[in-house]
Amino acid sequence: MGTVAVLSRLPGTAVERLGRHHEVRYRDEDSAPPDAELPGLVEGADAVVATLGQRVDAALLDAAGPGLRVVANVAVGYDNVDLDACRQRGVTLTNTPGVLTDATADIAISLTLMVTRRLAEAERVVRSGQPWGWGMFQLLGSSVQGRTFGVLGPGAIGLATARRARAFGMDVLLHGRSEPDPDAVAELAAEVVGFEDLLARSDVLSVHTPLTAATRHLLDADALARMRPTAYLVNTARGPVVDETALVAALEAGRLAGAGLDVFEDEPAVHPGLLERDDVVLLPHVGSATLETRTAMADLAADNVVAVLDGRDPLTAVR
Ligand code: DGY
Repeated sequence: MGTVAVLSRLPGTAVERLGRHHEVRYRDEDSAPPDAELPGLVEGADAVVATLGQRVDAALLDAAGPGLRVVANVAVGYDNVDLDACRQRGVTLTNTPGVLTDATADIAISLTLMVTRRLAEAERVVRSGQPWGWGMFQLLGSSVQGRTFGVLGPGAIGLATARRARAFGMDVLLHGRSEPDPDAVAELAAEVVGFEDLLARSDVLSVHTPLTAATRHLLDADALARMRPTAYLVNTARGPVVDETALVAALEAGRLAGAGLDVFEDEPAVHPGLLERDDVVLLPHVGSATLETRTAMADLAADNVVAVLDGRDPLTAVR
């Protein structure tokens, strides 16, 4: 029997299941613990279950102590975790790929439709109480059919989003660090292109790349300037992949048609220049936010913990 520190509230039965095998220290709050609470929670733990709002750094790992064997991050992204610090201490890191693919792809395509069809703006008109009626020229957006959907980072979520875009009649371009799955490329009748082509030819550019040193500000002023002035940017991956100041400048100058963002550079802060614009749609990082998905994420994190503490390989280790 080990000790598992679950740092914030989880849906479903994951905590109960962990409790059948191990002693669980459960912090039943839907937020990351304040710094002062953290050492007490993790001290002596064999496993830590963390969510995205929790920075897992050397200080946390050291507060847990040398018995710590696994950190289970309840997210597919793990930029909140200092991977080197985990490696140096022989701590296994696990994440939750796969189970949130559809939910996140749904949000990426929703943002695409919301921003191209001006749906958030339209909804605000109705709520505002201002007089409105059917108007030939009222709130005209752009059709997506026959347009080009560019995927930056054609992993599972990028490809699932591309399938949805294809179903809406869009042509698909794919660009990533590694070659996308050839079967998916064929199924989508997609074109695999270089970064320059992706920028120059996408009518909607959808970001699905993880945040790494190489992708931080990959979409900077220079990259944004190479996009079409009629193009839209959609980001459901990580905020810092886009230079938000450069994005605001491009929108202000009319060098981009709009943006749909579920993630921000400095969450939960949002660049004030974005808040005041009608040509952007802003969501509070809800890509994986369905009860079913979050429950599956929590279950997978619990399974990973149980596996490692049993001396088995975790189901989804970060390599
Ligand atoms: C993830 O899993 O990385 C998502 O951003 C969480 O919603």
